[in-house]
Amino acid sequence: MSGAVVRVAAGPQVADAGALTAEAYLADRLVDAGDSYADELRDAERRAREATLLVALVPPGEGDGANDRDDDLVVVGTVTLAPYGTSYAEVAEPGELEVRMLAVAPEARRRGIAELLVSAALREAVARGATRVVLSTLDSMQAAQRLYQRLGFLAVPERDWGHVEVHLRVHTWTPPDAPGALVESATWPPARVVDVDGWRVGLSGGLTRRANSVLPLGTPPDVTETLDRVEKLYAQEGQPSIVRVCRAAPRGLDDLLALRDYEVMSRADVLVRELDGFEPRHGAVRTAAGPVRVSVADKPSDEWLAAWSGSKARLHATGAAAETDDTSLRLARTVLGGAPAIYLTATDATGLVGVIRAAFAEDWVALSCLVVAHGARRRGLGRFLTQRALDEGAQRGAGRAFLQVEAENTAAGALYTALGFQPAERYVYRERR
Ligand SMILES: CC(C)(COP(=O)(O)OP(=O)(O)OC[C@H]1O[C@@H](n2cnc3c(N)ncnc32)[C@H](O)[C@@H]1OP(=O)(O)O)[C@@H](O)C(=O)NCCC(=O)NCCS
Repeated sequence: MSGAVVRVAAGPQVADAGALTAEAYLADRLVDAGDSYADELRDAERRAREATLLVALVPPGEGDGANDRDDDLVVVGTVTLAPYGTSYAEVAEPGELEVRMLAVAPEARRRGIAELLVSAALREAVARGATRVVLSTLDSMQAAQRLYQRLGFLAVPERDWGHVEVHLRVHTWTPPDAPGALVESATWPPARVVDVDGWRVGLSGGLTRRANSVLPLGTPPDVTETLDRVEKLYAQEGQPSIVRVCRAAPRGLDDLLALRDYEVMSRADVLVRELDGFEPRHGAVRTAAGPVRVSVADKPSDEWLAAWSGSKARLHATGAAAETDDTSLRLARTVLGGAPAIYLTATDATGLVGVIRAAFAEDWVALSCLVVAHGARRRGLGRFLTQRALDEGAQRGAGRAFLQVEAENTAAGALYTALGFQPAERYVYRERR
């Protein structure tokens, strides 16, 4: 797959998405040019106003898209999301979100664009708290039906609809259970936790947002007062206040934080898969330097930590963790070492080329810290390490796996979708400096 990204359509992308939808349906003879439905497909302006219009974008030429600005990119696919009760929802019931008008430009097909769009739609549905995703397809849409099945949709024949000439088949997708904030935090425990009115304030010298943010579990008597105390605590540590707005958070917290000038710093999806029936992958991966070997340890080596923290942790580090590599490594050992975990290291003839961590809590294995060296990317190593970590997790008795991925990280999202992970929850970090 090329370096496609999925975004909410903006500016001229809206009209492009409309033209593309009509073109895609005409190419497959799903509508006739004179049909009024062709006009409806073309009218993406209305869809952008009354629903959510997602587009898949690729760079105009070759390249991996990493440095392209969104407005230089070309629309190659689109899908519309319509929550229950909105004008584009045809069959959605209360709590459901309906996926409509999925289309990929004929010249961009067979490159995983539709899978990227539908999996982005599922993540968006989960982010909005939908209890189910629903869509209708025609028997003639064979390629789309295979995709829906692969992504975990089930046919619900009792909800099929249509008229004499058209039989629309309804499929639904239900999000898996999320591990929840407490299990997640048990696999990445802050160095210190202070309880403020039932909220868990994580303090770890600034190393990673996950270990330096508040888990706002439940509704304290006066949320504003609780926030004042949390902010004072972080100020004393010389750190910004970071709040994780997740399912366990009180209603309205996001709006309240926005009013207090908290900015959204990142949005992460919690992805989940059952390990029942997980087939370990056999075979090997090679880099340009030859075969790759994977070793498993129950503590991270300095080299392992440097590979991970060089790539990621320092990016988000504040306070003590931002000061020196030594401090950052010491803090990383404290945070990662706070949970039972294993550390996988991939090496080739040149040395370390990839790392991943698998931590354990209840019946879950939590994957984190996946990094593949730049020179070794796009050779299947990320997939191989993830599969090995799942396999090690299953062997140690885990029944389910989860991981967190930034909503914008298209590369990692595609990798995990292909490995059967499904979105279970989205949370947002809001930060006030
Ligand atoms: C994400 C990452 C680990 C992938 O490593 P990798 O070894 O290049 O991945 P693989 O070669 O195994 O790719 C597996 C699949 O992932 C997807 N993928 C990987 N890189 C991609 C990219 N740049 N753009 C789009 N999809 C990509 C593709 O679906 C790919 O399958 P394909 O090659 O058959 O199309 C690597 O890019 C990385 O280290 N990124 C920085 C750290 C990071 O984002 N970690 C994940 C945190 S949750």
